[in-house]
Amino acid sequence: MAKPMQPIYLDNNATTPIDPEVLEAMLPYLREQFGNPSSAHALGGPAHDAVERARGEVAALIGASPDEIVFTSGGTESSNMAIRGAAAMNPARRAVVATNIEHPATDACCAVLERAGHPIRRLKAKTDGLVDAGQAALLLGDDTALVTIIHAQNEIGTLQPVADIARQAHAAGALVHVDAAQSVGKVKVDVDALGADLLSIAAHKLYAPKGIGVLYIRRGVALPPLLVGAGQEHGRRPGTENVPYIVGVGEACRLARLALAEAGPRMRALSQRLLARLQQAVPGLTLVGHPTERLPNTLNVLFPSVSGRQLLAACPGVLASNGSACHADSEEPSAILLALGIPREAALGTVRLLVGRHTTSEDVDGAAALLASAWFDQYSARRHESGDPALMTRSLDSRFRGNERSWIDA
Ligand SMILES: Cc1ncc(COP(=O)(O)O)c(C=O)c1O
Repeated sequence: MAKPMQPIYLDNNATTPIDPEVLEAMLPYLREQFGNPSSAHALGGPAHDAVERARGEVAALIGASPDEIVFTSGGTESSNMAIRGAAAMNPARRAVVATNIEHPATDACCAVLERAGHPIRRLKAKTDGLVDAGQAALLLGDDTALVTIIHAQNEIGTLQPVADIARQAHAAGALVHVDAAQSVGKVKVDVDALGADLLSIAAHKLYAPKGIGVLYIRRGVALPPLLVGAGQEHGRRPGTENVPYIVGVGEACRLARLALAEAGPRMRALSQRLLARLQQAVPGLTLVGHPTERLPNTLNVLFPSVSGRQLLAACPGVLASNGSACHADSEEPSAILLALGIPREAALGTVRLLVGRHTTSEDVDGAAALLASAWFDQYSARRHESGDPALMTRSLDSRFRGNERSWIDA
């Protein structure tokens, strides 16, 4: 009997597998090198040195200095520290500017601040997912503490004109926080080129474990800590360092830096191949977001006349999602797609397909065939139920049936 094929993982913005080299780098610090980096004895030194090496690797990936890197528990904590901290720094500057397509880690911070009386102003994204940097000047003033902006949107992949907006923010005397949870490791991220004063990284999006992240804090920015305790991370994030995970994120950043030039074009080619295959098999399939100003790995497509959620439920051979993983139980259309002005009915057809470091062209072809086949079945059933005389023939179906990966019947 043939070996069953693995489902095809196309959810690499939700999370990535741990790279084997990252795991190897971590293992000694889960076994024999278990020391506390603050200990003065022989076990403390190697743990301390490992944390500092990792700090250097993170800094090197984003063009920062090691002393500007603070380890946190993940992207959510980094953004909380950045946004809530920056809003509390100066009583004369309480307003925060954000886009209307932020991740919940940012939106929830803005909601907390708003309840505490901080004005929150929104830069609106256009239908292509890009905000108009020209709007920023209208929202900035001498009351603005912070502009917080998602570099790459997690559902649609659009890359925002951060540098342009940051220039305007700085001219108005505001700080700039960049949520780079999705962009680091996929495209070049340089804190100076972006104009970031604060920048959040989530390690599990770049082949390191979950539960570890980074906040970049530009030298001279006196950001108050979220937590109080002992003096680790120079008091900016107290608590005994998670040495194995910090080693993991350091190694992941090293690998990402070495792979970046090759990985971007490779992922873009795979995404384009997937889109082309789907467009060939599914008439009316639409790409959401900007055609070029986007992450190389991210495709968000609208399947016509079907529910994307039901489509994926009928397609267990493809592990993908309909929006951010945090909303996976919801029947509501994605708030991000609605914010772009996509009509509710069309937005329900969304499927987010995210290639990664381990995706192959065979995976892409197999996933396209499975999705197109499931779409055809649901579309046909729907038209049949509605008594539409123009029910499509199976001949369309035959274009992709042959490519289908047979993991189900193996
Ligand atoms: C854009 C963005 N920001 C922040 C986060 C939160 O990161 P974490 O899961 O490490 O808390 C995510 C994770 O989905 C994200 O995609």
